[in-house]
Formats: sequence, structure tokens, C-alpha cells
Amino acid sequence: MNILVLGSGGREHTFAYKIVQSSLCKKLFVAPGNAGTAKIATNVAISVTDFAAIKELVINEKIEMVVVGPEDPLVQGITDFFAGDNDLKNVAVIGPSQEGARLEGSKEYAKEFLFRHNIPTASYQSFTESTVNEGKQFLETLNAPYVLKADGLAAGKGVLILQDIEEAKTELENMLTNKKFGSASEKVVVEEFLDGIELSVFVLTDGKNYVTLPTAKDYKRIGEGDKGLNTGGMGAISPVPFADDDFMNKIEEQIIKPTVQGLAREDIDYKGFIFIGLIKVGDDPKVIEYNVRMGDPETEVVLPRVKTDLVSLFKHVSDQTLNEINIEIDPRSATTVMTVSGGYPEAYEKGKEITGIELISDSIVFHAGTKMEHDKIVTNGGRVIAVTSFDDDFRKALVKSYNSIEKLYFDKMYYRKDLGFDL
Ligand code: AMP
Ligand code: GLY
Repeated sequence: MNILVLGSGGREHTFAYKIVQSSLCKKLFVAPGNAGTAKIATNVAISVTDFAAIKELVINEKIEMVVVGPEDPLVQGITDFFAGDNDLKNVAVIGPSQEGARLEGSKEYAKEFLFRHNIPTASYQSFTESTVNEGKQFLETLNAPYVLKADGLAAGKGVLILQDIEEAKTELENMLTNKKFGSASEKVVVEEFLDGIELSVFVLTDGKNYVTLPTAKDYKRIGEGDKGLNTGGMGAISPVPFADDDFMNKIEEQIIKPTVQGLAREDIDYKGFIFIGLIKVGDDPKVIEYNVRMGDPETEVVLPRVKTDLVSLFKHVSDQTLNEINIEIDPRSATTVMTVSGGYPEAYEKGKEITGIELISDSIVFHAGTKMEHDKIVTNGGRVIAVTSFDDDFRKALVKSYNSIEKLYFDKMYYRKDLGFDL
């Protein structure tokens, strides 16, 4: 069948890389894609939220499956748009309904869902401009550090963690009254700080059944030692070494099952990925957040470890028959290291020529912010290329990724050299 992947990052290049390996895929389109997807699929220059243009493409190219990479189209209701359109309703969309996407689109909605289903998470209260004083009083009842979260989507920047109570009160006011994150911070969730080590689990569900994908840990800060500004993610490791069988059983029983059952019980149409951000507090997992898509760069280590045909998995999602398939996972560790443009996550330049990709043979190169310009591959974003490697333990895999990166070059290229330092 003909398939469309929406998005343009390393995550989408990884989807494309897996999908073209499937005998079920006849022709693959990526919108808008990058220089990496251009090599293995047909890029189409349309935006992931231009539903009318997507419809035209799907009809013209007889596309039967759409895999949604990023959250924006999901939060804007692309799945409902397809389901409600006579010409599109038989197209399989991998991604939840708009209602399901609220698990990522609204922190308050997610917290309410977690509490309704008794899933372990930090205690919280939410506030609006008219209750900012109650918010400040609530902060007084908590111990430092203070966690403030803009309710809506804020491009990964909406969470503040503050040591000082006065600063926390000022920031709460900034978010609610001065709209620090625009409409995303019209409501703010204030929550208990959880102290522990983070990991993520990924679930693919058809709304009734699910398969658990490999765990991963990403490195979000720009600087070594997890210092400096937050980024989209500077690298990832899978599996997470401390997630042993006991801990994974807890995650499955206390978090994954009640999440999938909760969605079903509430009649929320959900056929897609659930990315659960967790913190291990003592010996127990607690949910920090839900995302309604795969992570980036987590996808670059999770999907290469999935040996089961990805398109066949997606077909089972769409047919609600995931219970009929056993997922096979590569037991080796995978690591990915992200190369970024100098200056990222603040201002950076684009259009720098990238060389050396073809010299890399021990790793898989996933393009993120790249594009073709004449016959050259040039940088086109903050995160540029993710280099994924396998080995029997993550430290050896990291050495391979770092050796491969030595062959890559673009002006002001930067990457973290300390991934895994905390494990
Ligand atoms: P989020 O955007 O919800 O993923 O939050 C961004 C980051 O803030 C997370 O990856 C955690 O490192 C941190 N964080 C969020 N909530 C908490 C919490 N309740 N306690 C400690 N850290 C948190
Ligand atoms: N790497 C974090 C995310 O995709 O949200």
C-alpha cells in the first residue's frame, strides 16, 4: 500500500527507514520530510497541519495509511478530520483522536486522567489568572524545588523548576497574568517535585490491546552533565539499564494497563503511540507526562530495535488486532547521538554544507534538520543529524556513535560527548 509519514525530523526519517523495509509498503511519501527521507521516499512540501493539502495528496496518490509524527496535527484533530471525511474515512491513521491527544495538549487533562485511574503521579493543583493568589498559597504548602507547568503546548519550554519560593511566586504570576507562554499558560499546573532518575516507556495501542516497545532515556539539556538550556533532545539510549524485570512489571501493572484501560473505558478513540515519561522514585515508577506520539530522538533508538515489520504492526493497530501479534525486539543496546547547529537551542545559522555522511559505515545516520540544496546536503534546523549505533552494551554502542560522528562535518557542529554519564 501507499503510505504517508507526516513530519520532518529524525523521528520521521526513522519511521521512513523502517517502513521502506516492509514488503507491505509500495510507495512512501513524507511531508514535508528532510534530505534523509528524500533518499528513500518522496518528499512533498506541505505542512503537517495543512489538512486540506494532506487530503488532496492522500486522494491523488491513493494513500491508505498515514503515520503522524509530531503532536501538532494530532492536537489539532487530524484523526477526526480523516474519520469525518467520506473520502478519507477508510484511510488508516496512526495517531489518536483529538480527545486522546489532550493527554499531551493539556497538562491538567492528563493529571485528571491519571488521578481518575489511580495511576501514580505527583500531587498537583491547577490555577488560572483569577486564582493566582490561591496558587501562591499552594506554593507555600510545598517544599522546594517548585514545579510549574504551562497547561498547553509550549514547544517543550513550558515547565519551570525553581528553588526559591519567591521566584516561584513571581513566575506563577508571569505565566498566569503576563502570559509568559501565551495562551499555553492561561492555566498552570503546580505540582510536587519528584526526585529520581527519568526514563520513558513507549506503548503502541489499538485502543483495546497494546504492545510495549523498548524503554529509552533521552538527554534533554544542551550541556554536558545535564547543564544548560532544554533542547528537543541531544541523544538517547535504549534499553534503560536500570529498568529491570521487576521495575518493568510495576510499570506495566500500575501504569500501562490502567492507561490503556482508562482510554477504553472513557471511550477515547486511541490508535497510536503513547509515550510515557516516568521518574523512578525509590523503587517505584511515577508518571511525569504523557505524549501522544513517539519521542525524538527516542525513536532513533527504539524503532531500530523493533524487528517486527512496522507496517504490519500499524495494520494491526488500525484493525484493532494487536492482540494477534507478538513483537520481536533486538536484545542489543542502541544509542543515538544528536549533532546540532552551534548556538542551538538559541539562535543558530542554517544552510551549512554537511559532509562525511557517506563515510559512516558502523552506524545508521538519521537526518533531522537537513535539506537538499542543489546537489548538497545542508543544515536546516537546530538538531541536524542523529547517529545511531548498536552493540551488546550501551557504552560500546556509544563509542561507535562517537567514532562515526568524527567523520561528519558542518560549520559549528556541536554534540554532547557525555551521554550515559548518569547510568
Ligand atoms: P515535561 O515537559 O512535562 O516533560 O517536563 C520537563 C521536564 O521537567 C521533565 O523531563 C522532568 O525532568 C522535569 N519534571 C517535570 N515534572 C516534574 C516533577 N513533578 N518533578 C521533578 N521533575 C519534573
Ligand atoms: N525527546 C523528547 C520528546 O520528544 O518530547
